[in-house]
Amino acid sequence: MLSSNDPVEILHKFYPLHTFAYSILWRHSTAVAQKACNVARTVSETEAIDVDFVYQAAMLHDIGILFVHAPDLGCYGEHPYIMHGICGAELLRSEGLERHAPVCENHIGVGLSVEDIEKQHLPLPRRDMLPRDTETRIVAYADLFFSKHPDRLAQEKTPAQVRKSLEKFSSSKAEIFDTWHRRFAG
Ligand SMILES: [Fe+2]
Repeated sequence: MLSSNDPVEILHKFYPLHTFAYSILWRHSTAVAQKACNVARTVSETEAIDVDFVYQAAMLHDIGILFVHAPDLGCYGEHPYIMHGICGAELLRSEGLERHAPVCENHIGVGLSVEDIEKQHLPLPRRDMLPRDTETRIVAYADLFFSKHPDRLAQEKTPAQVRKSLEKFSSSKAEIFDTWHRRFAG
């Protein structure tokens, strides 16, 4: 169990610092956390929101990549990549971070419904994994702008690029992004 909610402490507990997976995770998570915190601070001017929690959750949202098979990211687990959210949630629950765990589980794209999982035959349990609170939506929104591709970690996508990538799945996903973007872009 962790003694605090320090996300860096928990990342270091599970990722040896010299590994490729850690360098990818660190650079991606810090990029997402920086954007998420900027959004959260703007939103906090008009809404009650926990900015510290957004930072912690953004730093931890992808901690589950350790358990998936993604050799390009230096990860050699047994699960398919899309399971990284659920795996991360399980890990955080085992560390007593009950509040942070759902952010891992519900941050994939703009969220996944049971219908998405069934229609796309995704290797996931049949349940809605949707970001329902503002803090989780901000983390998912910020995450959409950053790839984990080793050559593109620091490159922030444009809103148009994000929208286009979501439209490949469905127009309704792109519309959810539009709603978030209107609310979060400041
Ligand atoms: Fe991510």
